[in-house]
Formats: sequence, C-alpha cells, structure tokens
Amino acid sequence: MSSEVDQRASKARAAAEAAGQGHVFEHWDALTDAEKEKLLSDVEDVTPEQEVEWTQHGFRLIAEGRVAVLLLAGGQGTRLGSSAPKGCYDIQLPSHKSLFQLQAERLLRLQQLAAEAMGTAAAAVKPLQWYIMTSAFTHAETIAHFEAGGYFGLQPGQVHFFQQGFLPCLTEEGALGRGKLILEARGSLAKAPDGNGGVYLSLARSGALDAMAAAGVECLDCYCVDNALARLGDPRFVGYCHGGARADVGVFARRRVGEPAATEQPSPSSSSPSLGPLAVLEYSELDPSLASAANPATGQLYYNWSNICMHYFSVAWLRRVADSLLGGGGTPYHVARKRIPSVSGPVPGIKLELFIFDTFAMAAGERTALVEVERSEEFAPVKNAPGSATDSPDTARAAVLALHAGWVRAAGGAVAAAEGVEVSPLVSYGGEGLAALVAGKTYDSSLVPELQQPQPAAP
Ligand code: UD1
Repeated sequence: MSSEVDQRASKARAAAEAAGQGHVFEHWDALTDAEKEKLLSDVEDVTPEQEVEWTQHGFRLIAEGRVAVLLLAGGQGTRLGSSAPKGCYDIQLPSHKSLFQLQAERLLRLQQLAAEAMGTAAAAVKPLQWYIMTSAFTHAETIAHFEAGGYFGLQPGQVHFFQQGFLPCLTEEGALGRGKLILEARGSLAKAPDGNGGVYLSLARSGALDAMAAAGVECLDCYCVDNALARLGDPRFVGYCHGGARADVGVFARRRVGEPAATEQPSPSSSSPSLGPLAVLEYSELDPSLASAANPATGQLYYNWSNICMHYFSVAWLRRVADSLLGGGGTPYHVARKRIPSVSGPVPGIKLELFIFDTFAMAAGERTALVEVERSEEFAPVKNAPGSATDSPDTARAAVLALHAGWVRAAGGAVAAAEGVEVSPLVSYGGEGLAALVAGKTYDSSLVPELQQPQPAAP
C-alpha cells in the first residue's frame, strides 16, 4: 500500500482515537488494499477542499436545474394547536414571516448564490423548482397563503403543489379483533393523511416524477415544513450526495443528546459523511432500553443520530420505489392513537401512517449517505404549542435569533439585544455575505432594517 494511504490512515486513526472511535482500525493490518481504501473513505473527516468542491457542485446542480426541492407539508400539526397548515405559522420572529415565507426566501437567496458561484447573471440560473406536498387538509389554505403573499418573490410557475392520499381512521380493536371505520358525519368517513411516506405514490400519481425527469431534474432535496432552521436545497449536502457519495438516498442527522429518534448506520464515523446500509427508527416506536443502549467498550450510543427529516433522493431511485409500490410492494402502516372527530363527538381511535424512511430498506445494496449536522445550525422544530419547554415556536424562535446573532458576530458586528437578531434569508442563507453590512456595528434591537432587505448591488 502506498505511503500516501499510510499517511491518510495514521491521520484518520489519530482523529478516530481522539473521538473514542479508534476500534474501527482494529483489523487494519489484515485488510486488503481495497478494504483499506473503503474504510478510509468511510471514516476520513471532510477536508475543507472537499467541502468547497461539493458546495460548488451543488451550486452547479441548482444553476442547471438538476436538483429540485421537495417539501413535506401535508401533516395536520395537531400538537401545535393550530388548525392552519404548519407552514403558515408565524413563530413570532421580529419580521413575523411565516415558515413558508422564510423557506421561499431561502430559495431566492440560493438562486442568487448559485449565479454568483457560477459567475453568471441571475437570469441565467434556472429557477429552483419547489415541489410542495399538501394533503386534503392543508391544500387550499396553503395555496391561498402563497397567493396572498405573491409567492414571496418566487415565480408562481416554479412552485408545484401536489396532494398526498389519505386513509380511513379506525376505532381501537373491537370484538372481532379489528378496528371499525368511523363516521365523521352522517354521510362521510373520518380520514387522515396517509403519512409522509405517502410521498412516493403521490409524486408518481400526480405526474410530478415524470415532469421532473422530463425537465432534467436528477435529484431532490427533501425537508419537513416545521423546521425553522431547515437549510433547504443546501448545496453542500446536495453536492456531496450527488457528486461525492453518488448516493440514491441521503439522510441528514444530528448527534443525539439524550433524546430518542434514531438513525442507525453501522459505520460509526462521526464528523464525516459515510456510506453503508441505512435505517431510521421512529422515536415514538423505539424501546427506551434500546434508545439508551450504548457500546460498553466506547460508551457510544448504538442509536447515535437523530433523524431531522431532511433527505436526499435521486429521481431514478424515486421512480424505482414508486414502480415497486405501484406494483403491489408496500411498507408497513404505523399506528398513531388519537381522538378522532366523529358524528357522536371525538372518540379514541387510530390513524394509520406510512413513514418516508421505511422505503430506505429498498436502498439496500444501493448507495446511501449519512451527514451529521449541528442542531444549533440546522434544526429548530416547531411541534408543540407555544409555551411548551421543547420543540415549540418559542424554542424555534430563540434558536433562529441566536444563530443569526452568531453570524453577525462572526462577521465583525456586535449584538446587544438579549434575544439575538434576525437576518432575512434574502440577505444571507447561512451567514455568508454579512461582513460588509455589519462589521463594526452594534445592534441593540432584534429587528434591523438593513438585515431584512438585500442591499442593492454596487453600480
Ligand atoms: C418526523 C420524523 C422523525 C423526526 C422528526 C424531526 C417521520 C415519519 N418522522 O417526526 O423521525 O425525528 O420529524 O422533526 O418522518 N407530513 C406530511 N404528511 C403526513 C404526515 C406528515 O406531509 O401525512 C409531514 C409534516 O407536514 C412534516 C413532516 O412530514 O413536515 C414530519 O411529520 P410529522 O408527522 O410531524 O413527524 P414527526 O413526529 O414530527
């Protein structure tokens, strides 16, 4: 084996040991050259050069219209206590933008950054196509919100709404060992969206998959509506999955800090993306003893990552999955126990749901990628009602303002406002481009006009 590989190995081994992962090298001396290459590619940390390369590749995919963005927005958001679609929700940021508006503006900024990265005019970049999955429960209101907001600066033609299916709700098991259908009104059944795993069939049935393939879209960056820090369309993630890992399925995950919701990948590389079989278990279905089980030798949790519901899919793989499901293949239904509205008032019952990650088993033998991210930079979920201690609009707002304050400080500004500061996605996608605006300034309010509007380009 070449000395270059030896050098890489000794660097990777030192980093792995420092991270408590040195055991992955225990069979090193017995490995073939090819196996050594594979192990190194699994465990090596990402170099800054690679990151630049992947990001540039991601910008190229955006500019050339080879990646589209997929939003899962069909959920009902009952825990949040709002009957409106979650994307319309105002988490009370100083700007009072809805989650949909924040996401639309992030796409606009990405288009601009892609043009800059490619050295072309903004008009030369293809509009980033945004596919939004709604359900019968969110469809009309979602479209009305976009229309009322003038599509938040996007071209209406780049936003595609399609509806997922629904499934009937059932009572808990009856005398015959099976649940019964529930009448919601005298002439209609109680139904619920079929879960975010309904996305595969609805992408196919709505014609969206065909439209993507015809337009030359090769891959999708998928995220869920209720993450106020979602880096949708992130060129680094997309560029890595497409160009680096050449993956069919990619998953963003964050390191677990004592809570359940686990991603399992038997390649314990921590700070680097890695390849191998991939599975996600839902936190609500994970046995607490498994959730806290750790490797006695290293102390590392077996289920070490939390799924943040951001995924990458190749369009070719989505087609294979849809064909398999259309051909009668299936994934299991999951059961959520809820109070179901019925003709005689709310009754205890069950909703059936498909989970988006259950199809990942179909990617066995294909290429998958796992990318670990920092919660404070990428994940601020809005799940629970205002005032809740975790995953609420309040915790999400605090996370956004704190992250943006960090960007301003890193760019040479000072933030005196205790709650932090809000930076419009039109001004900065991930903290870039702020130095000229903020260096040497102090902000004592969280709402700063110059951080809300992009500055006109210099003549
Ligand atoms: C989801 C993930 C969970 C992850 C968590 C992170 C699934 C099944 N679970 O849990 O692993 O840790 O996010 O925030 O992915 N949705 C639809 N249609 C539906 C149901 C949901 O589009 O029928 C959308 C929602 O609008 C939302 C996303 O899917 O954007 C997540 O749905 P939700 O059911 O709220 O899952 P969580 O319990 O939050």
